[in-house]
Amino acid sequence: MVYSAPLLSEKKDLDHRINHIVHHLKPSTPLHLLDLKALTRKSKEFKSLFRGTVMYAVKCNPSKEVIRTIAKAGIKTFDAASIEEIRNIRKWVPGAKIHFMHTVKSRESIREAYFDHAVRVFVLDTADELRKIIHETDLAPDLDLYVRLALPKNKEASTDFSAKFGASPEKAVQLLQEARLVSARLGIMFHPGSQSKNPDVFRKGIAVAADVIRKSGVKVESIDVGGGFPVQYPGQTLASLSDYISTIHKAIDDYGLSALDLYCEPGRALVAEAGKLIVRVELRKGNTLYLNDGVYGGLVEAAKHQGGFIYPVRLIGKQSDEAGDGSLIPYRFCGPTCDSIDMMPGPFLLPAEISEGDWIEVGLTGAYSSSCRTNFNGFGKYQTVILDGSPCGKA
Ligand SMILES: Cc1ncc(COP(=O)(O)O)c(C=O)c1O
Repeated sequence: MVYSAPLLSEKKDLDHRINHIVHHLKPSTPLHLLDLKALTRKSKEFKSLFRGTVMYAVKCNPSKEVIRTIAKAGIKTFDAASIEEIRNIRKWVPGAKIHFMHTVKSRESIREAYFDHAVRVFVLDTADELRKIIHETDLAPDLDLYVRLALPKNKEASTDFSAKFGASPEKAVQLLQEARLVSARLGIMFHPGSQSKNPDVFRKGIAVAADVIRKSGVKVESIDVGGGFPVQYPGQTLASLSDYISTIHKAIDDYGLSALDLYCEPGRALVAEAGKLIVRVELRKGNTLYLNDGVYGGLVEAAKHQGGFIYPVRLIGKQSDEAGDGSLIPYRFCGPTCDSIDMMPGPFLLPAEISEGDWIEVGLTGAYSSSCRTNFNGFGKYQTVILDGSPCGKA
């Protein structure tokens, strides 16, 4: 189906354009809207602020439109976590540079990445993984290896990764020494945790990395400070992207690492703003709205066990754009599956008169939304529409 909404250029008209799309399509399954202009803007902003190489962490939204748009905006290095992501990047952006940044890779995926897709950058956090990489690349002379560091638990992040990934500083020292013997280029990396609410965590990570490099006594050519740059969800007051990046630049200088090639690998902060999700109210029970999407679908991060993200929401009434008298009350959401973890505490502020059949626009859902969908209970169907009016896929 080809849909063509009237294109109104002003930002203030975006709501009207979206209402128009929704009233035209009357979606009964969740609808992802992708704003490629917003994505281009954000990619250019990141690139202009960061003095090193910005990579895109593909996992948070691996769609072809997103990857091609980011590449067109000038970000041509990608952080891939799986061979499937690598295959797609190679197909959609043939000249891309790909970093295979999962610390635990199957032997088959290492071999295919190196020999079929010209991947040279691999990460590791154990000596066993180092041996796998050396073996599966047939002792390649041109490896660009990164040692991933674990950092102390980051309580100010929505997801901390260091309990699962990364070597302790002591082990990282040894790994750098061992990896140096077999790599053409050597790097160190960390990820401070997704949605890191305090820029200082990057400074602390850089301090640990500098200490590990010094203790290893070997030459290290690059440092990758990860993703983790946050998005301002409702109710949060966070430092700006430019503050985060200045903190990183200053720490790199302060710890004597400015001669190293510098990388970052944002996901969320690059694409969250470019996505909106349209869901429908199937039933209202008091202040609980039962939706056609939930934590097994596009709203995984709104689940309590995922940190209970509160997204910006807006009512799109079934009849018109009217939004009542403007007074908002708090709701919680329930998703469509039979599982009781499929609940989202919010609170989500919406007009008091909301009822069955109304749609809700959920903002800031460009990252970890469409990519985390499942078909649990048979609720996996959704549509995607590009905000310039063209549909780009249906599942
Ligand atoms: C290795 C790695 N890099 C980058 C990212 C992107 O992180 P974020 O979306 O918080 O920027 C992730 C997220 O899981 C990751 O595991």
